[in-house]
Amino acid sequence: MAVAPPEHHVARQARLRAELSAASLEGLLVTSLPNIAYLTGLFASTATVVVSPAAISLIVDGRYAEAAHARQREIPGLRVVVAPPAGSAEESAAAQLAIIGNGRVGFESDNLSVRRHQDLAGRLALAGPETRLEASQGIVERLRVVKDDWEIGRLREGAARLSDAAKCIIPKALAGMSERQVAAGIEAELRRVGFDKPAFDTIVASGPNAAMPHYRAGDRRLADGDLVVMDFGGMLDGYAVDLTRTITVGRPRERERQLLEHVAAAQAAAFQAIGVGKAATAVDDAARRVLEGAGLGEAFSHGTGHGLGLEVHERPRVGRWRAEQADERLEAGMVFTLEPGAYIAGWGGARIEDDVVVTAGGAEWLTDVPRLL
Ligand code: GLY
Ligand code: MN
Ligand code: MN
Repeated sequence: MAVAPPEHHVARQARLRAELSAASLEGLLVTSLPNIAYLTGLFASTATVVVSPAAISLIVDGRYAEAAHARQREIPGLRVVVAPPAGSAEESAAAQLAIIGNGRVGFESDNLSVRRHQDLAGRLALAGPETRLEASQGIVERLRVVKDDWEIGRLREGAARLSDAAKCIIPKALAGMSERQVAAGIEAELRRVGFDKPAFDTIVASGPNAAMPHYRAGDRRLADGDLVVMDFGGMLDGYAVDLTRTITVGRPRERERQLLEHVAAAQAAAFQAIGVGKAATAVDDAARRVLEGAGLGEAFSHGTGHGLGLEVHERPRVGRWRAEQADERLEAGMVFTLEPGAYIAGWGGARIEDDVVVTAGGAEWLTDVPRLL
């Protein structure tokens, strides 16, 4: 698996230190695994990072010792701590935090469990110097929202492979096949084009099941005239790409054809609304207005898109404006999906999803598959 070159990690560390200084934090306890992968290049199922003024300490257990030491040899400023077999990650993290001494250290309040927080706070209280844990939110996620050129390269490659997979496999969904059989074919195709794994459980929703946006795949058999929503994605070198096409089995009838055209028009309007400095919610608004104009406002029951990166759903949120949530302004290098849909309970539904990158002049499609198949 390819990882970002060391200079990208050095740049990420510098941006992180600037964020910590702006927040008047001496350090940061990082427990979110995608954030740890972003800062160290280590993709582990268990790991903890303590960012201190002196170093970035990557705490792992014996299973990841060798991989972590390889990362240490690559990245200046990274120091590996292997937790002793009889010890806990909290014990090692508390020891690293105590070295920081007096000061405020942020923790990721969206991620750290209450139990782990209590364990750490208890150990710090015994350690002597006054290291205070302070709740923080989204510090590393803010860095991740704008992709560097290496990340954009991986996402571009992933989107090209996903498009190849889609073009090959979608025409093979035929009347009589079960949704599960179609999903198995899609997942085999994702492996064939080189993805490490699917990015999420593949959705194949046929007939009335297509009215459920996050249905998965069941035993129903595809029948002539059905709308079939196929939503699938892959992970390549740790980065997620995501695509949906809706087909009709056999020749489309008028109602199905019109629905697909309205959804495609909403996606095109969303794409046109993208621009550096514009609000992410304006992109959602553009798609929503098209569907409202077609009498499908109520049927569009989710947001227009979501950021893609180390997670399949990350910032920016391309959804409706909400009073309690700060609007995000689009920046060049953001990568997200555009996936409007319309769902009619008991009848069916349609979604069309592609991946885009924001550029200085607007946006560029990363996925490339005919929309009205
Ligand atoms: N299937 C997940 C998504 O499209 O967001
Ligand atoms: Mn999506
Ligand atoms: Mn999707």
